Amino acid sequence: TVIPEGPAALYDQWIRREFVEYNTALEEAYFAAGRELVTGRRDLEEIKEALAREGAELIGRLAGDGSVPADPEERYELLGRVGFYLAALRRHEVEAPDPSAGVLSQVLGTSLGVAPRYVFAHQSLYNRAVRDAYPTFTSLPDEHVFVTYNGLGVLAYQRAAAALAPIPALGVSSPLATYLLEGARAALDDVLAFNRALSGELDPGRFFLNIRPYFKPYRVGGVEYRGVNAGDFSGINEIDLLLGLCDARDPFYQRVLAEKRPYVPPEDQGRLSRAVMIPSLLDAFLAEMDAGPLPPRLRRNAELFLAVCRSHGAAYTFHHHRLVKPFLETPAQNAEGEVTSSGPPLEAVIAMLDRLSDLRSARRRPGLTSASASLDRLRRALDS
Ligand code: HEM
Repeated sequence: TVIPEGPAALYDQWIRREFVEYNTALEEAYFAAGRELVTGRRDLEEIKEALAREGAELIGRLAGDGSVPADPEERYELLGRVGFYLAALRRHEVEAPDPSAGVLSQVLGTSLGVAPRYVFAHQSLYNRAVRDAYPTFTSLPDEHVFVTYNGLGVLAYQRAAAALAPIPALGVSSPLATYLLEGARAALDDVLAFNRALSGELDPGRFFLNIRPYFKPYRVGGVEYRGVNAGDFSGINEIDLLLGLCDARDPFYQRVLAEKRPYVPPEDQGRLSRAVMIPSLLDAFLAEMDAGPLPPRLRRNAELFLAVCRSHGAAYTFHHHRLVKPFLETPAQNAEGEVTSSGPPLEAVIAMLDRLSDLRSARRRPGLTSASASLDRLRRALDS
């Protein structure tokens, strides 16, 4: 084994060991008390104090010489690592003993053009596993289940987006598009399967009391940055726009894109920008349909396209009704204080997710312009 040295290695070691032990001990005590947070108990306050102090010391040494890694990927990884510490302080409602973690986060965030906090990308794609363990806040099995399935969902969305991306240039009647549409459908079916597995394995009480609180908003340099969710990637939006289920000219959808931009990893920022410029596959199918009767390959691809849309709608509707509602909305009704992972009140978040769910499943609803009428036209052409 290589013995790690230097401030970065020491901090990494601490994050993987003592940090996890402290958080886990606190979570077990909160859970036993049936509360999201317990304050005023001496033994627990000592753990919180050790966590805050040791983390500050190690980050202070890390930031001491003022240099940050030259490699942007390493810088992004470090932003997440420091963010773990700040998110844990926020979760236990303790103050950092000094500003070094916040200052380092600001430098890293600014240098990369992202929000100076940890986001879900840090927990999934930029979270190196060593000897069977990727860094987590606690050693609770529910955190592992939650992060792993969310991460798998992210990868499956990315796979679907990557499959759809070459189709505009190939043309929707290309035989290569058949293969790509089949791939996109399989990937979106995987998203649904991961969501289902998560809903079966995650304990709602544990999630609500011990896991979700690490995803809260926190302040850096006096500014509050909203909390973490697995949607902070461009993949799902690339899929929405490429399929034509969401419209970049819709002011609601524009707000969704603008809001998430600082929270997606650097490589996804360009993807979000490009996604709004690409004409949709739905429009391409409608144009082919208007040009005359559908030849066999086009017909096959249009059927597959409709299946991809159904899979996208099904996976997201499941997220809304079987993850957000039972794991967040229902327990929140019996809890005190603020409960979303983002900034706005829970009702506003649910309303936003409701609307996205209706768009992704092309529902007909008063006040909603969805793709339902265009999809019906395509279906009628296939039936004729
Ligand atoms: C967004 C909750 C699991 C994908 C959100 C939001 C909430 C939420 C509340 C809105 C963000 C906000 O607060 O503003 C949950 C809960 C989960 C869960 C409670 C499980 C217990 C997953 C999984 C995936 C996923 C497994 C799969 C990748 C997304 C996406 C969005 C999102 C894509 C962004 C919506 C958008 O921008 O279109 N989630 N989520 N979530 N989540 Fe989940």
